[in-house]
Amino acid sequence: MSHGTMLHVINHPLIDHYLTRIRDVNTSCARFRELVGLVGKLLAYEATRNLKQEEVEIQTPMEKWVGKRLKNTVCIVPILRAGIGFSDAIVALYPDAHIGHIGVYRDEEKMVPVEYYKSLPKQIGEEPVLLVDPMLATGGSAIAGVDMLKKYGCKNLRFICLIAAPEGIEAFHIAHPDVPIYTAAVDRELDANKYILPGLGDAGDRIFGTMDEKC
Ligand code: PRP
Ligand code: URA
Repeated sequence: MSHGTMLHVINHPLIDHYLTRIRDVNTSCARFRELVGLVGKLLAYEATRNLKQEEVEIQTPMEKWVGKRLKNTVCIVPILRAGIGFSDAIVALYPDAHIGHIGVYRDEEKMVPVEYYKSLPKQIGEEPVLLVDPMLATGGSAIAGVDMLKKYGCKNLRFICLIAAPEGIEAFHIAHPDVPIYTAAVDRELDANKYILPGLGDAGDRIFGTMDEKC
């Protein structure tokens, strides 16, 4: 893959540790949800290292001081529904964030993304936008999400996921070479049903407990 600077694989022992628990089929829904949020927070922290800052003069209890604050409000946009598992935790990191929602699901027969919902903050303009979804498989959903955001006028985008497949990374970079991807892992490949291997199964089902087996 030749998209070096636009693909950020966040390596950290803590992320590896939690990701192993997340992948484990024996991990309960409650723990899965908790750990997806936790890793989401760590990824969002790394993905926002280069946010613009501005100086602000304040008064400490001792004297005047010029400190720094974020220049823009961050906008967090989960792709429904699994993205919610990420965004709740990331909002805790950015309590002042504006929050949008994009509904895209994979048509399981045609394996194409279908848009079904869009609700975005009015003031999005120049705000840094974090599009979040745990899984980047074929890339269809994330590409459609960025398409929708760009059409809406967003200029400063980052995509954050937990696990990315090489196929999805390639497709995403071709469609949106200007948008960086932040991920905890790049997995081996997609299976015949376009699920990520080794992956973690269906992220939405494991977050919301909607799989056939009990969790
Ligand atoms: C999953 C996942 C991504 C998408 C990734 O969502 O959360 O949105 O698949 O696959 P892709 O890269 O091939 O598009 P899904 O469509 O299962 O919907 P859900 O979040 O409602 O479970
Ligand atoms: N969506 C998921 O939830 N898991 C995958 O492996 C691929 C797409």
